[in-house]
Amino acid sequence: DTALSEQLGMADHAVIAHRGDSYNAPESTLPAYQLACEVGADYLELDLQRTKDGKLIAVHDDNLKRNTNIETVYPERASDPVNTFTWAELEKLDAGSWYNQAYPERARESFRGLKLVTLDQVREIAEGCAHQPGLYIETKVPEFFPGIEEDLKQDLTQHGWLDKDAKGKVILQTFNKSSLEALQDVMPNVPKILLLWAGDGYIPTKDSAPKADDESYAQYYARQEVASKADYAEWLDYAKQNGAIGVGPSGTQANFDDAWSSQFSYMDLAKTWMVDMSHEKGLLMHMYTLDDREDMIRYRDRGVDGFFTNRPNMAVKTLTDS
Ligand code: G3P
Ligand code: CA
Repeated sequence: DTALSEQLGMADHAVIAHRGDSYNAPESTLPAYQLACEVGADYLELDLQRTKDGKLIAVHDDNLKRNTNIETVYPERASDPVNTFTWAELEKLDAGSWYNQAYPERARESFRGLKLVTLDQVREIAEGCAHQPGLYIETKVPEFFPGIEEDLKQDLTQHGWLDKDAKGKVILQTFNKSSLEALQDVMPNVPKILLLWAGDGYIPTKDSAPKADDESYAQYYARQEVASKADYAEWLDYAKQNGAIGVGPSGTQANFDDAWSSQFSYMDLAKTWMVDMSHEKGLLMHMYTLDDREDMIRYRDRGVDGFFTNRPNMAVKTLTDS
């Protein structure tokens, strides 16, 4: 919906760099965000969490086992949630070496010893970037972080990111309905996206799907709609009534490297009728997470207004060239 994107000061077919350029550098680190800036991403995406001493930081998982060396540094506390650590404690962690081990073909010596980053550091990269990308900020697990929406507002306000001339520069996103409502309460004029995923109650799970005895979960979804029109409409209506300017659904994706996500890879919540219904209701659609050229073109042609990608370089080139 080009008109709505323009009205909100947003790029049409927005490229949202998911945790930075997290294909070419360790996710949610300075080089990942710097690369995303250099390749021309429209938005730098981050998952917001808060340390025990109140610092807002960019980390995706509930704990730091996957993307830091926490098991070596704090072996007793390795499974503890992020909010039980102070920023000084987290600064001691290496958030880059795991990537070199996981992706030796893309490893760089300079990634060893990288630090976790704060919201302020990501913001400063956006501010120093020639084409002035926006920030696309997700509030996660709000039960761990009561009041984080207000903290975010104060930080953004203090640095001028909620001024009138910054229109469209910040987008807030969440899967969590209570966080959407809290974001709407404290920042009613900032655009918000309600993220949609296949496990959100409308979609039968592996255990509850009424599949035939000899049918796999994937086969079950291949033969039926992932969500009924009534369910999808209800989802969209909830988003709209609670201040969202759009929804962020998952789509089918060619590239997955983790088993948990791949179980949802065939559940397309951005089918053509879903894109059309969103637009008919005046909602944008920013979908996640596309890392394959053909997927990017397919969904762009379906009419989605933007997508999250771990490969912003590929996305910018693909949208320019095709
Ligand atoms: O934030 C948009 C989408 O990527 C949500 O998934 O789990 O990567 O934050 P996640
Ligand atoms: Ca996210």
